Amino acid sequence: MTDCQGDVEGASTPMELYEKLSEQGVKVRSLKSAKADKTKVDTAVQLLLKLKMDYKQMTGHDYKAGCPPSENDAAPNNGPAADVAGEDDTVDPWTVSTTNAKGVDYDKLIVRFGSSKIDQELVDRIEKVCGQKPHRFLRRGVFFSHRDMHQVLDAYEKHKSFYLYTGRGPSSEAMHVGHLIPFIFTKWLQDVFDIPLVIQLTDDEKYLWKDLTVEECHRFAIENAKDIIACGFDINKTFIFSDLDYMGSSPEFYRNVVKIQKHVTFNQVKGIFGFTDSDCIGKISFPAIQAAPSFSNSFPHVFGSRKDIQCLIPCAIDQDPYFRMTRDVAPRIGYPKPALLHSTFFPALQGAQTKMSASDANSSIFLTDTPKQIKNKINKHAFSGGKDTVEEHRKYGGNADVDVSFMYLTFFLEDDEQLEKIRQDYTSGALLTGELKKILIETLQPMIAQHQERRKQVTDELVKQFMTPRPLNFNL
Ligand code: TYM
Repeated sequence: MTDCQGDVEGASTPMELYEKLSEQGVKVRSLKSAKADKTKVDTAVQLLLKLKMDYKQMTGHDYKAGCPPSENDAAPNNGPAADVAGEDDTVDPWTVSTTNAKGVDYDKLIVRFGSSKIDQELVDRIEKVCGQKPHRFLRRGVFFSHRDMHQVLDAYEKHKSFYLYTGRGPSSEAMHVGHLIPFIFTKWLQDVFDIPLVIQLTDDEKYLWKDLTVEECHRFAIENAKDIIACGFDINKTFIFSDLDYMGSSPEFYRNVVKIQKHVTFNQVKGIFGFTDSDCIGKISFPAIQAAPSFSNSFPHVFGSRKDIQCLIPCAIDQDPYFRMTRDVAPRIGYPKPALLHSTFFPALQGAQTKMSASDANSSIFLTDTPKQIKNKINKHAFSGGKDTVEEHRKYGGNADVDVSFMYLTFFLEDDEQLEKIRQDYTSGALLTGELKKILIETLQPMIAQHQERRKQVTDELVKQFMTPRPLNFNL
C-alpha cells in the first residue's frame, strides 16, 4: 500500500475527507514555499489530487477550500456495510442487531449512512404534491430516511415523472409480515403518483448465498411474486422479473450490469459488503445486478432508450449499501442517481434487538400463518413491556417503547387516535398486556386472512402477465 492510499482510507465521511484535503493543501503549499525536494512535492501533490477525486466521488461535487461539505452531501461510497450505528448496532443486508430494547438508533444510522431524515416538512411536501393524506408509514416515521426525495418532488412538480423500483430475495416460499412493509408503501406510492414500478426478484442472489438449487430459487421467485401481486399492484403499471429469466433475455439490462461492474473495484465491494477472498465470484459481481434496475434504459419495453428517467427506491435501510454503491457509479456512467426512501425494521417477536427474519419461524409471523398460529405466536412470543403482575402493571404502567405488540400496531393500525389512546392506556396501566395482545391479534388475523384470500385469486396466468416484458401504461 502506498502512503497515498493509507491516508485516503482513513477518511470515512465527507467532512473527514474535507479536513484531510485542507491539511494536504497546506502541506503542499509549505513544501513548495520551502523549495523541498521534487519527489516529496510530487508525492504530496499526487495525494492532493487523489483526495480531490475521492472527495468528488463521495460528495458529487468539486472540493473548494473554505466550503465544507453540507449535510446533504453523499455518503462515503466505500464504508463497510456492517456499519456500527449506535455503539452496538449492526445494520447490513444480512444482519440487523442492537442491544437496545427500543431497537436500532435510526437517528445515528442516518448520520453514519449519510442519508437525510424524513422530517415533517418533507411529509407535508409529499402530501401537497400528491394531494393525498400521507400514508401511516410516513405519519409515524416507519419510513424515516431518504436520499434526494426533494429532487424527485421538484421534478414531478415540473411534470417530469419518475418510476419506482423495489425487490425481494426469494429465499423461501413464505414471506413474513416484515417483508410486506416496503411493498405496502410502494403500492401507495404507485397509486398516489400514478407511476410505473419494476420489482426485481433476486433468485440469482439467493442461489449464490444459500444452500439452494437454481430451480428452487426460481420456484420461490414465482411463489413470492404471488404474494407481491396480492398486495394489489396495478398490472398495467407493474413489471415483476426474476433475474434468472430477465438477465438472459434483455441485452440492455446486461449492458448496464457490465457498465456497473467496470466501475466498481474488488476493493470497493470488499469495503462495502465485507466480501472476503474465499467468497465465490458470483457474490462479488452480484451488487451490479441489484444496481442495474435503478437505470431506466434497463427496461426498454417500458422506457425505450431513455436513460434519464429518475428512479425512486423504497426499501428497508438494510439494502442501502447496494444503493450507496449505485449512486456512486451512476454519474460516472452517465445516469441519474436513484433516490431512496428507507424504512425502519419490523421487529422480531422476541424484541426490537433484531428484525423479523424468515430463517427463525418463531421470530416471525408468516403470510401463510393461520389465525390460530398468529394468536399463539403473539401470546407466547411477543416481547412485552408490561410489568410482572397485574397489580404492578396497574400501579406503574407498561413501557410501550419496548413492547413488540405495540410496535406492530404502529405499523398496521390505521387510526391515529386509537393508537394514541392505546399507548396512553398501556403506559398508565389501564390496559393490560393480554388486552394489548388481543387488539394486535384482532388486527393481524383479518389482515393476513384477506391477504391469503387475495393470493388465492392470483393465477399462474396472472403471474405470467406481470412477469412478461411489455409496455406499461403511463405518461412520461
Ligand atoms: P429481502 O427479500 O431480504 O427483503 C425484501 C424487502 O423487505 C425489506 N425487509 C424488511 N422491511 C421491514 N422489516 C423487516 N423485518 C424486513 N426484512 C426485509 C427489505 O429491505 C427489502 O426491501 N436483495 C434484496 C432484494 C432486492 C431489493 C431490490 C430490495 C433486489 N432489488 C431493491 C429492495 C429494493 C433482498 O434480499 O430483500
